Amino acid sequence: MILGIETSCDETSVALLEQDGSVRVNLIAWQIERHRPFGGVVPEIASREHLQHLFPLAGRALADAHASWSDVDRIAVTAGPGLIGALLVGVAGAQGLAYALGIPLVAVNHLEGHLYSPYLQREGPSIPLPPRFLSMVISGGHSQIYDVAGGRAAMLNRTRDDAIGETFDKVAKFIGLPYPGGPQIEKHASGGTIDRKRFPLPVPQFKDESLDFSYSGIKAGAIRIARQMNIRADGDPKLLADFCATFQDALFAQLFDRLDAIWSRLQTPMPVDVAVAGGVAANGTLREKMLDWGRRRGVNVRLPEKRYCTDNAAMIAFAALQQTAEAADPRRVSARSRIA
Ligand code: KG4
Ligand code: ZN
Repeated sequence: MILGIETSCDETSVALLEQDGSVRVNLIAWQIERHRPFGGVVPEIASREHLQHLFPLAGRALADAHASWSDVDRIAVTAGPGLIGALLVGVAGAQGLAYALGIPLVAVNHLEGHLYSPYLQREGPSIPLPPRFLSMVISGGHSQIYDVAGGRAAMLNRTRDDAIGETFDKVAKFIGLPYPGGPQIEKHASGGTIDRKRFPLPVPQFKDESLDFSYSGIKAGAIRIARQMNIRADGDPKLLADFCATFQDALFAQLFDRLDAIWSRLQTPMPVDVAVAGGVAANGTLREKMLDWGRRRGVNVRLPEKRYCTDNAAMIAFAALQQTAEAADPRRVSARSRIA
């Protein structure tokens, strides 16, 4: 089995996977309550929490899988990008384990974990990866579309400023909704009416033919509107619902605008699937819209199980299984907060 470790942000996670991608266990220690009073992740608190939870969680993962350390023949750890202190806890822990057990350690790029996560199944072996697929990674730190073929991922676009999940979180925080904002906005949006005239959110325009995302304009516009119209978490519920529905719709409209533009420019042979990954992929409205997008074009849309949308170690171990390169000497693996 391969043991996965993920500590790049505010979730400590340990998973055990078989070589065929079956997930034996995927445990997550959530820290949301510890960060909530601050309205966002506090890096130092995250590092300390990881330190406290990592080894007990690894022990529990083995116990839950009725396995022992001798059943683990490889370790995969998120080496970046992420919070450097948080990453260091996972990487140092994984190095210690790999070195002590005399087994290889695989350094995994956190984004690669998200990229492949739609192919993990709740039970049984993973879905075979198609020869080519698009993967849209939308989370608190990323908004990017990749073209993945033969184990290589080429980035087709990225955000010029804020990530989509970050935009959800910041606007939610401004109106007084608890962290993380994405699920909160989704909840309130469900009873609301979309009205772009009443809530005139800006549509980002670039002078060049760019396919990039940009969310800072919508963020600033949403905050301005919320201030002017006195939209508050504890205020008029209908006003809040309509605002959330319109704001969420504007965020997603941009995703589809860029996805359409990218799709129309691709050359044959076309990608087999369009996959969506990352925390924002847990959003029910987006999942419906994505499936609808695929139906209208005859494209297969692959959505991750909700449990594999937000950060988890199963996707990290799974990404390691896709790597063909030799695993590194554990002492040579290092944490990096940014990866180009
Ligand atoms: O992938 P993730 O756990 O961490 C990063 O790598 O960033 O994503 C967390 C992000 C947060 O911004 C959170 O607000 C957003 O995903 N998120 C959602 C939903 N669930 C989580 N955004 C919209 N709707 C949701 N249901
Ligand atoms: Zn993530």
